[in-house]
Amino acid sequence: MKLRTRLTSVAIAITAFASPALAAVQPESGIGLPRDVSLSGHRIDWLINITSVFNLILFIIMCVWMVYACLKHNRNHQAEYDHGSSKHSVTVALAISAVIFFVVDGNLFFTTMRDLDNEFWNFDMVKANPQTVRLEINAHQWSWDARYAGPDGKFNTEDDILTWNDIKVPVDTPIYVQLTSTDVIHSFYLPNFRTKMDAVPGQVNRMWFQAKEPGEYDIGCAQHCGTHHYKMKALLTVLSANDFKLWQAQQSAIAQRGFDADDKVAHWGWEWKEAY
Ligand code: CUA
Repeated sequence: MKLRTRLTSVAIAITAFASPALAAVQPESGIGLPRDVSLSGHRIDWLINITSVFNLILFIIMCVWMVYACLKHNRNHQAEYDHGSSKHSVTVALAISAVIFFVVDGNLFFTTMRDLDNEFWNFDMVKANPQTVRLEINAHQWSWDARYAGPDGKFNTEDDILTWNDIKVPVDTPIYVQLTSTDVIHSFYLPNFRTKMDAVPGQVNRMWFQAKEPGEYDIGCAQHCGTHHYKMKALLTVLSANDFKLWQAQQSAIAQRGFDADDKVAHWGWEWKEAY
């Protein structure tokens, strides 16, 4: 990467800290996370950026203090010993700690809880939307199986669409995912959507996301799940609503033709419940 491109990337990253327009789809910066193409990902980016800003401020304060101490208390200065246990020292330390705790951690905590309730964990909103696409995902060493209900709206029936390491979803539509694993713990990770959820054997977890832009995006596994963990990569394709409908109709017709009632391994789906 050329120096100028690098400097531009750094400049983009710095302006992103202060930018209130994070909700818009961002271009690839070349550093840090891949660009966010999701409805709610900007909230995660905000959290990461604001945490970095607070860290930077504390880092600068520490550096300034160290330089000042080095210059002031040089070799000509008689050392002073203090355990910092006087009432005054303890009061000052407690007051500074309390301010940092309530202002920084308190702010982050309340913002996070608000975002979780309003968006990331707001399954009532997703369930109430008639456009919502429901998806069952079965993780195993080392790939992702996905299942769509098909025209009958029921899972584990003969019109289900099954895909392998290849998930297609429509743009601007909530995608409600329920997922499990058949062997060890995996984690369904969508870096461009700033979201991930563990796939745990014996239980069904859930998550939802929504794409703002058609395109092809990575699916990764975010839990070390064995020797081929690094190979557990799949593709998420975001289609226009129309293309998705066409794909769905075509795939469901193919699925019904190829359905084999005796193939028990292929019938890993479960009856959809709105909550677990
Ligand atoms: Cu599955 Cu790592």
